[in-house]
Amino acid sequence: MAMRALVAGGAGFVGSHLCELLLNKGYEVVVLDNFVTGREANLETLRKLGHRLEVVRHDITSPLPQSLKTGTRFDEIYNLASPASPVDFDVMPVFIMRTASEGHLHLLELAREHGARILFASSSEVYGDAEQHPQKETYFGNVNPIGHRGCYDEAKRFGEALSQSYWRQYKTPIRIARIFNTYGPRMRANDGRIIPNFFTQALKGQSLTVYGDGTQTRSFCFVTDLARGLYALMQSEDTRPVNVGNPIERSVLEMADAINRLTGNRAAVKYLPLPENDPKLRRPDTTRATSSLGWTPAVSLEKGLELSLDYFKSELAQDPTLEASVIQ
Ligand SMILES: NC(=O)c1ccc[n+]([C@@H]2O[C@H](COP(=O)([O-])OP(=O)(O)OC[C@H]3O[C@@H](n4cnc5c(N)ncnc54)[C@H](O)[C@@H]3O)[C@@H](O)[C@H]2O)c1
Repeated sequence: MAMRALVAGGAGFVGSHLCELLLNKGYEVVVLDNFVTGREANLETLRKLGHRLEVVRHDITSPLPQSLKTGTRFDEIYNLASPASPVDFDVMPVFIMRTASEGHLHLLELAREHGARILFASSSEVYGDAEQHPQKETYFGNVNPIGHRGCYDEAKRFGEALSQSYWRQYKTPIRIARIFNTYGPRMRANDGRIIPNFFTQALKGQSLTVYGDGTQTRSFCFVTDLARGLYALMQSEDTRPVNVGNPIERSVLEMADAINRLTGNRAAVKYLPLPENDPKLRRPDTTRATSSLGWTPAVSLEKGLELSLDYFKSELAQDPTLEASVIQ
């Protein structure tokens, strides 16, 4: 019998790539999504892969539909549901917190009822503006709970603690993925994260917006590598948090240069003040992912940017009014 997976947030950027991987492996997949940041267009390719995809439009902060609880048992539940862009942090902070708390609780209960494994998509943001570099899973982090990013960082920390509590109290087989910056096709061109912002601005011949002096670093993972990592974590027996990201670190200015070169954009970079609590250095220590999951990223940054270029071009061709979302 085919394995059956529920993917909350499956209509989003990462979720749709994970669903694609699962469908290609022969899984039956149910997407659970309220489309707050997800898109029907992300599911189009998936629909062409076969008949094993079902989409349920639902907000996980509300009690789950009875049909999911009493229907065919799920083997695996992936919780990727959450707005993830800093521009959302000002617009819907309460919703973000409810999604990782009440929403994740509903999915943990479902996992308990079905005897399913459940993976929580946490974030490198649990490390905050880290004082240890690179970040190991044993580091507790440096988060400002009441700052601009607090709603997201603390939501992810709570989601981890809630998962851990289900493991401790009920032995629910939990998995915790600490995801670092990820990019690739199906990101919203205007969602405010670094790579979509840079592509959108560069393809429009505009100045790329750099916050601070651009020396802050990030480590960018191509989305198909991340999807493989999430799957590998689910298949492993590791209930500890695992960093899933690409350990190759670049400064924001290096990224701006790379995207300007790739797109032929000649406009100079425009500097804006660094947003509150913006992390200065971000690089995963991936020792645990390598040793415990046997996972390493395979797509180089150069290749990943090339693979993303056509996607962002077609997004802007379809809607030339799209603009980068800039935090002023
Ligand atoms: N992309 C990254 O760089 C990154 C980094 C760290 C962590 N993550 C985490 O990975 C997950 C996926 O991120 P993404 O980049 O694909 O974001 P995304 O916004 O593209 O996808 C999130 C999906 O969740 C859905 N969703 C949000 N709240 C929901 C709710 N209450 N009920 C049902 N559906 C809901 C959205 O509609 C969307 O389809 C998120 O949990 C995010 O926090 C992503």
